[in-house]
Amino acid sequence: MQPDKLHAEVVRKYSEHINPYLAKLMNFAGFGVEVKGEGCYLYDQDGKRYLDCLGGYGVFSLGHRHPRVIEAVKKQLDELPLSGKTFFSKNQADLAERLSMVTPSGVDYSFFSNSGAEACEAAIKFVKATTGRAKIVSTEGSYHGKTIGGLSCTGRSKYRKRFEPLMPGVVFVPYADTQAAVDAIDSSTACMIVEAVQGEGGIHVPPDGYLTAIRARCDAVGALLVIDEVQTGLGRTGEMFGCDHEGVAPDVMTLAKCLGGGVMPIGATCFTKQVCDSMFAENPLLHTSTFGGNPLACAAGLAALDVIETEGLVERSASTGAHLKAGLTGLKDKYDLVSDVRGRGLMIGIEFAMDEVGELTIAQIVKRGMIAAYTLNNPRVIRIEPPLIITKEQADTAVAIMNEAIGETQEILAALA
Ligand SMILES: Cc1ncc(COP(=O)(O)O)c(C=O)c1O
Repeated sequence: MQPDKLHAEVVRKYSEHINPYLAKLMNFAGFGVEVKGEGCYLYDQDGKRYLDCLGGYGVFSLGHRHPRVIEAVKKQLDELPLSGKTFFSKNQADLAERLSMVTPSGVDYSFFSNSGAEACEAAIKFVKATTGRAKIVSTEGSYHGKTIGGLSCTGRSKYRKRFEPLMPGVVFVPYADTQAAVDAIDSSTACMIVEAVQGEGGIHVPPDGYLTAIRARCDAVGALLVIDEVQTGLGRTGEMFGCDHEGVAPDVMTLAKCLGGGVMPIGATCFTKQVCDSMFAENPLLHTSTFGGNPLACAAGLAALDVIETEGLVERSASTGAHLKAGLTGLKDKYDLVSDVRGRGLMIGIEFAMDEVGELTIAQIVKRGMIAAYTLNNPRVIRIEPPLIITKEQADTAVAIMNEAIGETQEILAALA
């Protein structure tokens, strides 16, 4: 089929059978039809190559179609793709053990699911069962998924409003405000759930000591600490986990996105023995998932952890991230439109001074062969989350494209003024 025709057909089917409003939004940004991915690049229906600086919102840390993950999944496909759920699964056992070796001390158990939201749902249930308490402290601007439990802990009213009343007992405090968090956590609190770097809220890095203080307060009142590492986990911020920057161990940690190596969907809720005993001793089936921990996804997860280790992706994230952030910070000095550049490792946000600028700039970026998007809860912030395998040269290309895109946006705005 002709590329133009293919694009039109897909947009029509989206409009008629998926979501016409989403189709319009994606069309406005100039997004094509994804046809192939390889390393740091995505190709559209015209064969046009895009430097993927969004990385599937953190999914493609290993790049697209990493050969070792593909090989592991293909091998598993020929043996046993899905689990019958009655026998033991070797892949699931291996992945749970491997995770316990990299997660903070004491976080030794894993429950596997299929997405970040499911990982957070499990976390919510686990802390309620463990503490027998209902109050949850979360943060404004946070994102923990769009299922009812995850949404109840998500700090943006735009996504919550039409589904209220949501799960009761959730209170929100400003992110990165240590005193507000400490004051909100009391003896009726089941947990505080918090991102190690707030992603969808606009890439906010908390001050040093933030998680440490929350950990101490939770311990003092018998509350649990849930750290949502769905986006920050497995090298994204330049440490294996975002909480490793402070050496803080949570009671429960959620993972998803790049855990499947960019090939399979998988979510994981990792937790301590105390949580395990409280949750499962009485009823081992208190929380289950038909597809969670399936052999294909776990094969991908095991291969992904191998690649992260052998290719030194955590260290690369730190060093390439520093290089990229320095380049992008230069744009802040150059353009009044850019009000801030911040982030950790390869999780970087560029904040604009006005609301619409992010959207306009994204269209310019896509036109120039790069993919980026704004953060869901803060459209003023464009996130740069490329694969951790990105080279310094590719990072320089990203800065050059951003420079041109912001420059053109500035010209458009000046012409409209
Ligand atoms: C921190 C965090 N938690 C949870 C989620 C939900 O993950 P999913 O979209 O896989 O349900 C996301 C997704 O962006 C996230 O960034």
